[in-house]
Amino acid sequence: MPANNSKEYHDFIQKVQPPVMPSTRSHDPDNNQKRTDPFQFGSRFLEEGDNVYEFNAWDHVEPDDEFKAFAEQQYEKQRASRVSDFDRNRFNNDPAKWWNLFYKNNTDNFFKDRKWLQQEFPILAEVTKKDAGPQVVLEVGAGAGNTAFPLIRNNENDQLKVHACDFSKYAVQVMRESDQYNEKHMVADVWDAAAEPTEEADSLPPGLTEGSVDVVILIFIFSALNPNQWDKALRNIYRLLKPGGTVLFRDYGRGDLAQVRFKKGRYMEENFYVRGDGTRVYFFDHDELVQMWGGWTPEKGMQIDLENPVSEAQLAETDNPFKVLHMGADRRLIVNRSSKLKMYRCWMQGLFRKHGGPEPTTESTE
Ligand SMILES: C[S@@+](CC[C@H](N)C(=O)[O-])C[C@H]1O[C@@H](n2cnc3c(N)ncnc32)[C@H](O)[C@@H]1O
Repeated sequence: MPANNSKEYHDFIQKVQPPVMPSTRSHDPDNNQKRTDPFQFGSRFLEEGDNVYEFNAWDHVEPDDEFKAFAEQQYEKQRASRVSDFDRNRFNNDPAKWWNLFYKNNTDNFFKDRKWLQQEFPILAEVTKKDAGPQVVLEVGAGAGNTAFPLIRNNENDQLKVHACDFSKYAVQVMRESDQYNEKHMVADVWDAAAEPTEEADSLPPGLTEGSVDVVILIFIFSALNPNQWDKALRNIYRLLKPGGTVLFRDYGRGDLAQVRFKKGRYMEENFYVRGDGTRVYFFDHDELVQMWGGWTPEKGMQIDLENPVSEAQLAETDNPFKVLHMGADRRLIVNRSSKLKMYRCWMQGLFRKHGGPEPTTESTE
């Protein structure tokens, strides 16, 4: 177990009783593999009669009520012992410093390759097809290249260019020094997604201009921003995208085990924490993300009112700059079979489209 896990949390997740669905299958082991071939996420439903320890992950499992109550208690404790003002300033004033330290310590061996990308975001399969024509993909907060490299490995499009940007110069160095770094299809650059234009310099990444990007990939980057930086990042992304351009989003969801197990002295503000290594993490909620993207305008900025949320359907009627094509929670129960722990994970996944441009094909927006 990670070092920051409390005994209380550990004891609790040993006793977790996940809800099960009514059984829809026979339990004949010959046809009860819960696997599709090739394997696809989302097919392992935990049903009555299943042995929860049979697999190491189950899909779409909502936390049980007892766990939700436990999570609320944990949040109360976290709020009661927040980060000191001194530390909050240290971590918020120079976040790149902490990510630089992270990549100095971990180089490229921390994050796993995101091999599921093209399955989850079909548009990535489209832009990498042989005859897809000129396509510009920007990955923001690209880290050690765990998304960009698999994308390029599977690419057949001679005219694909992937800009992999990160504000950590060490992350960029790791990407540039990798054997997989292929200059024909990839360029790694230092760029702060929350940069603001100044008189001396624009806030866009090197080599990219306004309206030049087809697809923006945001994988576990928005959670690393302070909520007061979201508007600046959205502004840059909006400017960079072509009309009709797409944003692919995946990040931590509210109630994920990583949030529930935070101990004392890590809470910065609601749903926003600092890890032991000085890097920050936010946990997103469905309605918040829908409003954040669907309600944003260059004039008014972020429009998030969780007391009176504007629905996806209402936002779809507006002519706001981004349409929310999809926003969903990917929930899994992860099972540690040897220590008999059952842990609820939750990630948010979204697909947004900048207004204008040709109508998207259904394939790319599924
Ligand atoms: C959790 S890591 C995810 C890395 C990568 N996207 C992946 O999924 O493997 C977050 C990354 O965002 C980068 N990052 C954080 N704030 C950023 C900012 N303001 N601009 C650009 N990159 C940032 C960090 O340096 C780090 O590499």
